[in-house]
Amino acid sequence: MAEQKATNVFWHHGEVTRDDRTELLSQKGATLWFTGLSGSGKSTVAVELEKALLAKGKLSYRLDGDNVRLGINKNLGFSAEDRAENIRRVGEVSKLMADSGVLVLNSFISPYVADRDMVRKLHEEADLPFIEVFVDCSLNEAEKRDPKGLYKKARAGEIKNFTGIDDPYEAPVNAEIHLKTDEMTLEREVELILESLEARGILAREAVEA
Ligand code: ADX
Repeated sequence: MAEQKATNVFWHHGEVTRDDRTELLSQKGATLWFTGLSGSGKSTVAVELEKALLAKGKLSYRLDGDNVRLGINKNLGFSAEDRAENIRRVGEVSKLMADSGVLVLNSFISPYVADRDMVRKLHEEADLPFIEVFVDCSLNEAEKRDPKGLYKKARAGEIKNFTGIDDPYEAPVNAEIHLKTDEMTLEREVELILESLEARGILAREAVEA
C-alpha cells in the first residue's frame, strides 16, 4: 500500500452531489473490473459492452492495461510490486470516475487477489459499486488465441514474468460475474453483464436496494 507522503492535505467537498450527477445522467457511477489472463477476452467484452451501453444512452469509459501503460503508468513494469502499483493507480482513477457518474470498464490482468481486494475496498469505503468480472479462459485457449504473439515469446524465453507462463494468476473465487469465454458467445456475455447492472439498479436514477 502506498504511504501518504503529503501532510496537511484535506478532502475538499463541492456543492454538487453524487445524487445530482446520478439524476443528470440517469445512471449510477460504478466500476466494472474485468480480470483474467492475457488473451482471455477482457478488452473484447469491454468494447462490446461499451457499445451496448451507448445504445441504451448510458455513459461508460474503458480503461485498459495496454493503454494505461502507455500513459499514466508508463514507468511501471511487470514485477509483483509494479503490478500492484498499476492496479492501485487505476483503482484510484476509477473511483474518481465512478464518483463522477461514469460506468468505468477496467480491463487489467490484475493477477493478485490482494490487489483486486484493495481496489474493491477503496470503492466500498466510498459507497461506490464495484463489480468484479472474472473473464475465465483456460491457459490452453488463451495461448491458442495468442492475439499479440506474446505467449509464443514467453515460451521462447523472450518475455520474462509472463502471466500464466512464469508468473502467477490468482483466479477470483467470489467475483460478481463469471464469464466462461471458452464456452459463451460474446453476445451472451454482454447480456449477462447488462442483466447484472439492471438488477443492481445501476442503469436507473434510483438504485435498487439489495
Ligand atoms: S497487470 O498484471 O498489471 O494487471 P496489465 O493488464 O496492466 O497487467 O497489462 C497486461 C498487458 O501487458 C498484456 O495484455 C500484454 O499485452 C502486456 N504484457 C507485457 N509483458 C507482460 C507480462 N510479463 N505479463 C503480462 N502481460 C504482459
